[in-house]
Amino acid sequence: MCGIVAYIGNKQAYPIILKGLKRLEYRGYDSAGVALLNSGLNVYKKKGKVADLEETLVGKDLHANIGIGHTRWATHGEPCDRNAHPHVSENGKLAMIHNGIIENYNQLKGELQKKGYTFTSDTDTEVLLKFIEDIQQNNNCSLEEAVRIALKRVVGAYVIILIDQDNPDTLIAARKGSPLVIGIGKNRDEHFLASDASPIIEYTKTVVYVNDYELAIIKPDELILKNLGNEKITPFVQQLDLELAAIEKGGYDHFMLKEIFEQPSTVFDCLRGRVDAANGTITMAGVEANIDILKNAPRILIIACGTSWHAGLLAEYIFEELCRTPVEVEYASEFRYRNPIVNKGDVIIAVSQSGETADTLVAIEKAKEQGALIFGIVNVVGSSIARVSQAGAYTHAGPEIGVASTKAFTAQLAVLTIIALKLGYEKGTLDNKRFLHLMNELQDIPEKIPAALNQAEHVKQLAYKYKDARDFLYLGRGYNFPIALEGALKLKEISYIHAEGYPAAEMKHGPIALVDENLPVVFIATKDSYHEKIISNIQEIKARKGKVIAVITEGDDVIAKMADDVIEVPAADELVAPMLSVIPMQLLAYYIGVAKGLDVDKPRNLAKSVTVE
Ligand code: F6R
Repeated sequence: MCGIVAYIGNKQAYPIILKGLKRLEYRGYDSAGVALLNSGLNVYKKKGKVADLEETLVGKDLHANIGIGHTRWATHGEPCDRNAHPHVSENGKLAMIHNGIIENYNQLKGELQKKGYTFTSDTDTEVLLKFIEDIQQNNNCSLEEAVRIALKRVVGAYVIILIDQDNPDTLIAARKGSPLVIGIGKNRDEHFLASDASPIIEYTKTVVYVNDYELAIIKPDELILKNLGNEKITPFVQQLDLELAAIEKGGYDHFMLKEIFEQPSTVFDCLRGRVDAANGTITMAGVEANIDILKNAPRILIIACGTSWHAGLLAEYIFEELCRTPVEVEYASEFRYRNPIVNKGDVIIAVSQSGETADTLVAIEKAKEQGALIFGIVNVVGSSIARVSQAGAYTHAGPEIGVASTKAFTAQLAVLTIIALKLGYEKGTLDNKRFLHLMNELQDIPEKIPAALNQAEHVKQLAYKYKDARDFLYLGRGYNFPIALEGALKLKEISYIHAEGYPAAEMKHGPIALVDENLPVVFIATKDSYHEKIISNIQEIKARKGKVIAVITEGDDVIAKMADDVIEVPAADELVAPMLSVIPMQLLAYYIGVAKGLDVDKPRNLAKSVTVE
């Protein structure tokens, strides 16, 4: 949450920062601001999106070769101009942007207030900045030294970047728990800083990922990294493997739609080099290197949040079926605060698109301390969860910018299925015939997704038909139950319509009371071993006049005759079919959001990367 960008060099900083903030807006978009250093320190900030800030700055003199910018997702203090970043020190000489949470800010604020400091915002960021300022004044030390001292007392997570009017050729940055990438200019005479690489790749692909407890002192032609003990660290310089086109809309109206339509290629990329059905082999280095631990694990715990949790839930069904290993799926936010049992030999699978979700990160750190192997399934290369994990597999879905997760979900399902197939085969719980059959079925998914996407126009019509419903119920059984949950989550996020996902049979134990002629009930009812059972559930809804929208396997006349509306997807083995049945769920949420005139790429109150607990 919150996106940060900074520039130092010989170019104009403002256009670089502005473009970067637009790219990072998925991380938060309730207010934005910039601080530019030229003859003096100029700070501009505004409630609303980055475009609102841009509008208010038209006509202003924004010339500067050094600057910082921020797009906010509110934690402490409501979204308003006052609480927007950058914040400015008491003496007006320092400006700072921050992504994260300072947990002991109240205590620090009390101490500063006693010394006469005043606060213009409700934020923890202003407290940290004035704490740094106070240390600098009391110790008569450099800003770098003051930051180091301050951070030793700070409890919480942060990336901070400071500019100082008295040192106009230096940026100071530090990180703990929130991401920071530094791009090194092609001629080594400029630096770009950002929460992720998207604001940077246009200018350079040479980057350094700053680690926790590291401090960076950045001049146009110099990057020094130090630890909090003031010892120099050699930066690990890497080349980014990312193209600009991957982070642009490419002619689609929204990133979400682009990402939904990318799924044939993202699932293909995820399988490429890993699944070779023709030769009956699965190659996944992270699994092979730990095969004994994975095979012998008495239990697998899957830890995730949101959509990634739904992928984990489906994986529970798949792993237990194919590997016969007991699996538990945990919400990271619950796991981290209870006293969970992690036994020797247990394996933790952390699933995360961003690789930065604070709850997941802390949960796996806790499990790691208890001796479990942490296997990360992450989309963003080099992210915190990827780095904390001892083994893992990337999902290779490419940058996901729409706030609602779509292509990352199908890629997570693909990776989890590959792992289950490999383990089942190695353990002998999956016979060769089924192993080969499922590998073929999995490999065919990228070719079948376009047929599901071809339903887009039809789904759009359904969206207009049902957009005014107050509530939706999503029902599925077996492998399609997690898809019901995911469908309901997508709709809530994008259209702000209340939706609940339930196991179809469980509906009788409560939610059936909601059913009347106004309630659309979405059944994910593809042909699988629960088909007869779900037909009965559809009848139960029809008997109470509910409106049934059913996702069915192509040619399923039985359900087609019963349902008010159907959306067809290609036939596939029930174990991999959810990668198809989720696509109409994504499209339905998208088109209802669009039909209601909502900003589907930036739904209210949400952020792509939840780096606060
Ligand atoms: C839903 C969505 C969220 C994320 C959740 C976890 O569309 O995007 O529910 O799935 O915040 O995020 P990651 O996967 O980045 O850990």
